[in-house]
Amino acid sequence: MKWYKIDRHLLPQAAVIKKIKVAGKNVCLIHGENQYYATGSTCPHAGADLSKGWCANGRLVCPYHRHAFDLLTGRGDPGQGNYISTYPLAWRNDELYIGLPLSWIKRLFGSK
Ligand code: FES
Repeated sequence: MKWYKIDRHLLPQAAVIKKIKVAGKNVCLIHGENQYYATGSTCPHAGADLSKGWCANGRLVCPYHRHAFDLLTGRGDPGQGNYISTYPLAWRNDELYIGLPLSWIKRLFGSK
């Protein structure tokens, strides 16, 4: 895993889902219930852009067919049989960082 600082101007304000690009990867950065969450940005059902969805009861809801995913675990609601990636966030020196997994090739050959 590698940690990346998120520029402060990219942080969404209250109750907003924003798609940002970190290290070439699209991520949904979500601000809700006084907390930030980070998830994948593509719905596993049919590829909708999850940043166009909304949050309800601790879940991210897809705008196309309303599959819903837990903001912390990424697990889809019962019966959906799918999930989205979630990524850890951490505050360090008043800056928000996101942890992204290394690609298999970087794990194999090392990353700088
Ligand atoms: S594309 Fe997301 S629920 Fe169908």
